[in-house]
Amino acid sequence: MASLASAGSSLVRTVLYPSTSSAQHVCQRRALHISLRQCSHENPLGLPRSSDPPRPPKMPQRSRGGPPAKRSLPSVRRVLAVSSCKGGVGKSTVAANLALSLLRSPPEGASRPPRVGLLDLDIFGPSVPKLLGLDRGEMGAEVTKAGALIPLTNHSLPTMSMSYLLPPEQASSPIVWRGLMVQKAVQQLLFDVDWRSGARPQYEGEEGAQEGQLPEREQGEELDVLVIDMPPGTGDVALTLTQLVKIDGAVVVSTPQEVALEDTRKGVEMFSKVGVETTGLILNMAHYIPPPPLPQDPLPLFGPPEPFLKLAASLQLPVLGQIPLEPAVSAGGDSGWPVAVRGEEAGGATRKVFLDVARKVWESLLKSKSQQ
Ligand SMILES: Nc1ncnc2c1ncn2[C@@H]1O[C@H](COP(=O)(O)OP(=O)(O)OP(=O)(O)O)[C@@H](O)[C@H]1O
Ligand SMILES: [Mg+2]
Repeated sequence: MASLASAGSSLVRTVLYPSTSSAQHVCQRRALHISLRQCSHENPLGLPRSSDPPRPPKMPQRSRGGPPAKRSLPSVRRVLAVSSCKGGVGKSTVAANLALSLLRSPPEGASRPPRVGLLDLDIFGPSVPKLLGLDRGEMGAEVTKAGALIPLTNHSLPTMSMSYLLPPEQASSPIVWRGLMVQKAVQQLLFDVDWRSGARPQYEGEEGAQEGQLPEREQGEELDVLVIDMPPGTGDVALTLTQLVKIDGAVVVSTPQEVALEDTRKGVEMFSKVGVETTGLILNMAHYIPPPPLPQDPLPLFGPPEPFLKLAASLQLPVLGQIPLEPAVSAGGDSGWPVAVRGEEAGGATRKVFLDVARKVWESLLKSKSQQ
């Protein structure tokens, strides 16, 4: 069933999907709004622009002759970027598990559970929907009356991704955009999301759900921290983000191989050039611990950690954690139940590492210079 309503220059379609297989029972008959895109350089995501009342995005003003002024994101108190110049080192996996662990390890003395969100800024290869189990069915982001995007929530974590904005028939096609459109899309994902409105509970009662999950966010409150999953490299997206947004911390992910370390150094330098404080480094796939009855000695499959530790010391940056290469981590990502929220024994050691990283990240964010 579908109905169409005009919302300015684009259309907002409300779709009721019939029930599907039992594995997808949670998606049954959900009302979804899919913003039909009009691919223009000005508005590549096709967000409604002249609805009631219009809320034109306030793009950052260029100061006279200088770079654009950095701004805070709407309804977001702190921004934490998860990055690495190298592809495939586990940025998205770390970003998702870290965001979920930040939710589960409130800063000391906090009087309420923290509010955390996850923004997928990988325009060309978004992973967050898959990692959070939000890629099933034909999901789409709704828009508020004022035309802002409403995040999709699972595991109590509101998320936004390019994937939610593509019409279903384009969701699995590669995005072939040039620089200007990428920049505009990034700006829309940064400045046109209403993070106060992502409180829809989803997938309740799904097999494997943990008892006593965190309460869903109360509507109408800003995020304590937005974790941003960045694409690899120092291209358009990284530039747009770091030039336009006040970032309170950055976590750079590396693997032990020497080929990854040079990129790690470049990642840290990029942040330092744009005045962003690097919170610390994470060594992912640091070692493999064989399952019992084999001896539980960590095997450095991708090389010893020493070169990475030396790099961290030379950059005078803390090592926030060493995450093992762990089948439960990739299985968790593939199933939409990241290891940080899985209630089973497998991955328990990794869960603890993520919680420990989250604790250190909170500590650093709370005393970050940009918050003072
Ligand atoms: N600690 C880990 N143990 C096991 N598998 C892992 C671990 N970290 C990441 N992976 C797996 O490695 C693959 C790449 O991870 P991921 O997509 O998070 O990397 P990425 O750096 O975000 O990649 P890209 O540069 O393409 O965005 C995924 O299949 C993921 O499940
Ligand atoms: Mg990624």
